[in-house]
Amino acid sequence: MEPAFFIGDLPISPLAPGMPVLTLAPMAGVGNWAFRLISASLGARIVGVEFINCRIVHHSGHRIERLLDFSDAPVYADGGHSLLAAQIYGNDIGLLAAGAQELERRGSQVVDINFGCSVPQITRKGSCAAYLLDLDRFYDAVQATVQACTVPVTIKTRIGWDDDSINIVEVVERAQDAGAQAIAVHARTVMQKYGGQAQWEWIRRAAQSCSVPLFGNGDVRRYEDAVEMVEQTGCDAVQIGRAAIANPWIFAGRNGAPLHERLRLAAEQLRLMVQYKGERVGVPETRKHLVHYFRDLDRGSPERTRLLTTTDLGELVQFLDEWRAKLPNDVGDEDLSLNAEQAGKLAWSGN
Ligand SMILES: Cc1cc2nc3c(=O)[nH]c(=O)nc-3n(C[C@H](O)[C@H](O)[C@H](O)COP(=O)(O)O)c2cc1C
Repeated sequence: MEPAFFIGDLPISPLAPGMPVLTLAPMAGVGNWAFRLISASLGARIVGVEFINCRIVHHSGHRIERLLDFSDAPVYADGGHSLLAAQIYGNDIGLLAAGAQELERRGSQVVDINFGCSVPQITRKGSCAAYLLDLDRFYDAVQATVQACTVPVTIKTRIGWDDDSINIVEVVERAQDAGAQAIAVHARTVMQKYGGQAQWEWIRRAAQSCSVPLFGNGDVRRYEDAVEMVEQTGCDAVQIGRAAIANPWIFAGRNGAPLHERLRLAAEQLRLMVQYKGERVGVPETRKHLVHYFRDLDRGSPERTRLLTTTDLGELVQFLDEWRAKLPNDVGDEDLSLNAEQAGKLAWSGN
């Protein structure tokens, strides 16, 4: 398949012809190594790593090591389908560029800069979305980071500070002039935080004036929303955040999966997470994903109670496996690539 576009010289293709290119948005506390691998195996073409403060990347300690553990990157490099994009943020341009260099040294195939986070404690210090208030400073930050890295540098931003100062078109122009190789736009203002509706119209206007790939983001809840976002805005790819937590199958063009498949993926994610973080942290951290995967279960059902209370990995995986074995017509070894093909058909038929 012809690549849909390139980030620098890295080719990016959709999972199947006719599908939009879909990527996993960076999400703090969610986008860990295990979830990134699962998302990529289902079709996410770029997997975002949560934002990392440029002041801590050179520190040592367990937490930092876990954040900077990009041991999934070689899997993507070997497969040639997906890319890992670690994300840096900070208010000091020199440290931002040096931090980006460290993310590259650790194996990130793309370095993303966060210009989108709207948390007041962060913007008050001049980091993240605060750069939207001073586009010369923004330009300098992008340019310094591009000069510091050999891998492509991308950015993630919002449409502007508030409804009276939407400046995404200028932001896009300045970012590409400074050397950004792709731009992701969360179609809300900083003041909107996560409220109200994402304003896709601004993705359309930004895409029109953008000469590098532009990723649309915000309020994609189902696969069909991603298809619609591309149709409405002409963006090159769709970045999916919250919807992927409950439904990583969205990357394969599906809205959810049958119970046997959810059980298999849950067990797989638990095993990977425990490998990544150890049992004490890995099991509780995976629980928030499990709660979403099985949210159709009755609140008081014995299965849900076991899911929420079992802390021992062996016991939990055994429980999931036994539950799966009990299901009628278990087709547990179904190949996910078949689903990718089905997903392509779904997109072609315009459903
Ligand atoms: C729990 C959570 C953590 C997030 N962390 C980050 C982050 O580290 N970096 C970033 O650029 N955006 C972050 N975001 C924003 C998302 O990447 C995305 O822009 C936003 O959720 C809108 O997309 P969605 O409607 O598909 O969720 C986070 C969002 C959530 C819900």
